[in-house]
Amino acid sequence: MNKYNLFIALLLACGTAQAQLGQRIIVETDHTSLIMSVGKNGRVYQNYLGARLLNSADNMTLPQGREVYVGGGMEDSFQPAIRVTHADGDPSIELLFAKQSIERPTAGCTETIVTLKDPKHPITVKLHYQAFIKEDVIKSWTEIINGEKGEIVLNDYASSMLNFDAREYWLTQYHGDWAAEMKMQESKLTSGIKQIDSKLGTRAAMYQSPLFLLSLGKLSDETTGEVIVGTLAWTGNFRFHFETDQNNGLRVISGINPYASAYRLAAGKIFTTPAFIFTYSANGRGQASRNLHAWARDHDVMDGHKPRLVLLNNWETTFFNFDEQKLSGLFDDAVNLGVDLFLLDDGWFGNKYPRSNDKAGLGDWQPTKTKLPNGIGNLIKQAEAKGTKFGIWIEPEMVNPKSELYEKHPDWILRLPNRKEDEQRNQMVLDLANPKVADFVYQTMDDLITKNPGLAFIKWDCNRIMTNTWSPYLKDKQSNLYADYVLNLYQVFKRLRAKHPHLPIMLCSGGGARIDYEALKYFTEFWASDDTDPLERVYIQWGYSNFYPANVIASHVTSWGKQSLKFRTDVAMMGKLGYDIDVKKMTAEELTFSKQAIKNYKRLSDVIWYGDLYRLISPYQENRAVLMYVDSARSKGVLFNYNLNIRERETVNRVKLQGLDAAKRYKVEEINMMTGAKPILPDNGRVYTGDFLMKVGLDLNSWHLKALTSSIIEITAQ
Ligand code: DGJ
Repeated sequence: MNKYNLFIALLLACGTAQAQLGQRIIVETDHTSLIMSVGKNGRVYQNYLGARLLNSADNMTLPQGREVYVGGGMEDSFQPAIRVTHADGDPSIELLFAKQSIERPTAGCTETIVTLKDPKHPITVKLHYQAFIKEDVIKSWTEIINGEKGEIVLNDYASSMLNFDAREYWLTQYHGDWAAEMKMQESKLTSGIKQIDSKLGTRAAMYQSPLFLLSLGKLSDETTGEVIVGTLAWTGNFRFHFETDQNNGLRVISGINPYASAYRLAAGKIFTTPAFIFTYSANGRGQASRNLHAWARDHDVMDGHKPRLVLLNNWETTFFNFDEQKLSGLFDDAVNLGVDLFLLDDGWFGNKYPRSNDKAGLGDWQPTKTKLPNGIGNLIKQAEAKGTKFGIWIEPEMVNPKSELYEKHPDWILRLPNRKEDEQRNQMVLDLANPKVADFVYQTMDDLITKNPGLAFIKWDCNRIMTNTWSPYLKDKQSNLYADYVLNLYQVFKRLRAKHPHLPIMLCSGGGARIDYEALKYFTEFWASDDTDPLERVYIQWGYSNFYPANVIASHVTSWGKQSLKFRTDVAMMGKLGYDIDVKKMTAEELTFSKQAIKNYKRLSDVIWYGDLYRLISPYQENRAVLMYVDSARSKGVLFNYNLNIRERETVNRVKLQGLDAAKRYKVEEINMMTGAKPILPDNGRVYTGDFLMKVGLDLNSWHLKALTSSIIEITAQ
């Protein structure tokens, strides 16, 4: 054991160490080092973040670098990580090292806690760094402890601040709108500030997603370049601040958006920021994605290693227009198709104001008697009797003005008291900052589950942003609203999971506007977008795949787009497969194909859900997209090949595979074909060495390039 590992071991043994100037704070995973140290002035500096240093003696010769968590109101002239107004009005904060401690919260993870104190005020700031050793992921957050006698105001309260020194910085961000999520944009950072943020409150990721890739030195690609991939585990307003200084140093501050959110923290209270989760890769973004995927499955997403249900949703088939008889027919369709579950979407509730369109009913979570006279329990029984499971949609944070809830509790709704109500989709947001309202949401969910034993799935939706926002409950503390709403919502999720630990729940927000890793601790998947046109979906799912494993990206076969059912199915199969389609309208050939596709998916889902993802050809670079998953034993792979707006006889190269074992021999065979279709591989079913497949590659398109066609290739070690 070298002397630094010995030092870490000693820290682990005694838990805590007292301040030593020059002392190193070492956060390490298998391939990454984040090294900090205590400067002569007592502040903590980030000396290094990058590929793991092999010789720990080098830790002592690192340059000092920049401060790790800059306090505002002092001499630093750039954006601070924290800015506080103290109880006595002092607007400055200086954070000096007090101690570090190291814990082991779970197997395979160390948690370093750096405690900082302001010498002039009893404020403590604790920087937490959880290092997930084999996944190469660091999760960092901050606790701010108000030891003062009065309330303090947190004007800025970042989760994390990271510093970089590279010749160039390239930012990859994902923006969008309803039905247009995760559009990738890449730009070189110039001097000054670039921010990505949300001020939407709820449905917060509608225009910008809370995630980014940062390439250091040059624009990274899938296999080369240094890259940081990060995301904020927060379902509300977020902000990423990138600031390039006069020496080309880059400061990246991640956290809750301080916009309209100066947080008032009472004496003795602690504010815990959301976590900023990031990974570093010296070998391009493919490795970074695989790190995050592994971490998400191992340590974050609800039941990350448990199977998901293939479902049939009725939304695009019926919208609000259904009754018991129609549903019974849809249960038959689910059974006929071979899925695991039928999911009843919006439109099943409300009696005084039945929900027959989006104008009424939200908040009144009782089944509509005229539509469903025998209630939900009966639907569950009927579905089970036919041989499928039953799940249901709900949007419990919202209320329509046309509802009994609105009439009964006008004080439970977020709206400015002196201005006209701003409805969106005819609905308003409930005031979850109010614990009573949060309790109502919890109770609604608990009742739905408890009163309907056998309920096998829930889709939790959230269809509007906050506007004209004011909380009747918070009175003069309005600036706590955006944060308190989310904190209380997470408490609802947590309570619900304590009582109903394994029920699969989909996170949905008018498409994919809620996709954060804190919520995903309680959810098994998220709805990626209401845009299910498969051409668009290739780009949308490609974007998500940089951050999330396939088993959480809900991808459904629907009737959007003019592409063949085969293309629609192949696109959905790269994620968590589901259906939202009128099965009765399928031709006999399409139905046969779909049944076989579901069987194929179930046979291969372990590889897709838990395997390593390799993105081979990007749709942003060519008129096609190719990606593959490989299991951990490197004995099974699945390759997805999509021709997008490709032109007849367009020249494309062979595709070199990745992630296989060069020494193994693999059978390469096209699957998921329509009856009678000719395979795209001239030698379908031929055996190749892994070495050949990775160095020479496959000719996936040579003789029939057609726009909007696709193929799935199964790769099996012999
Ligand atoms: C928005 C969701 O994204 C859709 O899938 C559907 O559930 C509707 N809401 C229902 O109102």
